[in-house]
Amino acid sequence: MRVFLLTGAGVSAESGLGTFRDKDGTGIWTRFDPMKLATPEAFVRDPQEVHAFYNARRRNLIAANPNAAHFALARLETALAERGGNLALVTQNIDDLHERAGAKRVIHMHGELLKARCTACEAVSPWREDLGLRDRCSPCGRTGTLRPHVVWFGEIYGALNEADLFVAIGTSSSVYPAAGFVSEARALGIRTCEINLEPSDNAKQFNERRYGLASEAVPIWVDELLTTM
Ligand code: OAD
Repeated sequence: MRVFLLTGAGVSAESGLGTFRDKDGTGIWTRFDPMKLATPEAFVRDPQEVHAFYNARRRNLIAANPNAAHFALARLETALAERGGNLALVTQNIDDLHERAGAKRVIHMHGELLKARCTACEAVSPWREDLGLRDRCSPCGRTGTLRPHVVWFGEIYGALNEADLFVAIGTSSSVYPAAGFVSEARALGIRTCEINLEPSDNAKQFNERRYGLASEAVPIWVDELLTTM
């Protein structure tokens, strides 16, 4: 059997990491304004405050332990593999508790708190300490350019908001968040184009549709686009 599994904050809640939207006072975004802490604009405006928020979360994570849910999923991964199957473990969590419970392959959709990324050279490095403006990126040597390697609000949709054209290539567009891009683009009045072997589940939502092998359809589309610009 092949299992695609998506986890979120609830799986780490009993490890003490808190969820985002639980209304009993434990939800991180019920206590803190995400727009002031988890956006690229917030980081430009007040990097110290953003670092302080993620430093506290990082310390909390380092002190936390995986719970029975993480261990059970790691066990499932091994058991499925032994039976010729596979577990695709996709998590929205930025913690490493699945890995610490023994999961071998985890896809982190929203990045990882125990990594830092340089905004200048884009290098990603493991990071377990507090992060601040005096820290140096060892690959490029610059100071003050490191940020948590996590996805912030607006980093994907912000780019979509600014686009003139949205193009989906070689995707069935059936899995969110990708599945939502075309309707979001249409709502924003952005032109949309699908290039795929066959019409996707969302094909009718696209203004323009091109079907064929990517190796043929994509170069043709690029040439056409460039001549109209
Ligand atoms: P949410 O806080 O939105 O949802 C957590 C869910 O876990 C809720 O449905 C709870 O009912 C459930 N839950 C709470 N405790 C649980 C427990 N002990 N066992 C089982 N379920 C429990 O968190 P996410 O859905 O993970 O993104 O949030 C998605 C994304 O929004 C996060 O990755 C983060 C956040 O903004 C970014 O920061 C980019």
